[in-house]
Amino acid sequence: MARRRQLYEGKAKILFEGPEPGTLVQYFKDDATAFNAQKKGVITGKGVLNNRISEFIMTRLAEIGVPTHFVRRLNMREQLIREVEIIPLEVVVRNVAAGSLSTRLGIPEGTPLPRSIVEYYYKNDQLGDPMVAEEHITAFGWASVQDLDDIMALSLRVNDFLTGLFLGVGIRLVDFKLEFGRLWENDEMRIVLADEISPDSCRLWDIKTNEKLDKDRFRRDLGKVEEAYQEVARRLGILPEA
Ligand code: C5P
Repeated sequence: MARRRQLYEGKAKILFEGPEPGTLVQYFKDDATAFNAQKKGVITGKGVLNNRISEFIMTRLAEIGVPTHFVRRLNMREQLIREVEIIPLEVVVRNVAAGSLSTRLGIPEGTPLPRSIVEYYYKNDQLGDPMVAEEHITAFGWASVQDLDDIMALSLRVNDFLTGLFLGVGIRLVDFKLEFGRLWENDEMRIVLADEISPDSCRLWDIKTNEKLDKDRFRRDLGKVEEAYQEVARRLGILPEA
């Protein structure tokens, strides 16, 4: 890898300066964290798999007209992306009760939700990414009412499309997290999908057995974490080249 200037190191990814202005290189690490980095570990091969899975999903989404920051995959662990101004929100879409929703509201994991639920969390490690309402987001200027309209519409489109995509390969899309950014082109601003979509950011359950094929295997010490990520890639038909 040509040495590039590092701009930011996150828990699972590093961002480097890109080859052209307005681009960045997103590098996928094997590091895994959970519970706001209280639990740390390494999942061998995870970066390679997430790079490939996220490329696949972002490409399919672009094909149906969902704007994303993804440009192209560069190698096993890196992809070229457009530089965007990240909106400091984690947008979680849920179809089935699990995780923090089950804990917070006492709804057993696996209960189908009467309709898809979209939640917003303020991206702030020190505060542990607290859940926020639209009121907080617009009052504190993290996003405008129009931005939120776009974010909600895009999130629901992504949910509809990915639910079908995963169902086609025998996987239930329980919930997932999205991030968005602002991209300026010719003085016009667009909201685009950013970050990654992978088993790190989704709950994916086998449709028949309910076996977890996602980061909950790491969070809950269920073992066979890398195998689960590989299984998702295999079912999507995109196991990375050796
Ligand atoms: O923990 P919780 O149930 O709120 O997570 C909902 C979804 O968002 C899960 O798919 C989880 O993997 C994802 N998530 C994430 N990054 C976070 C918090 C949640 O990818 N910081």
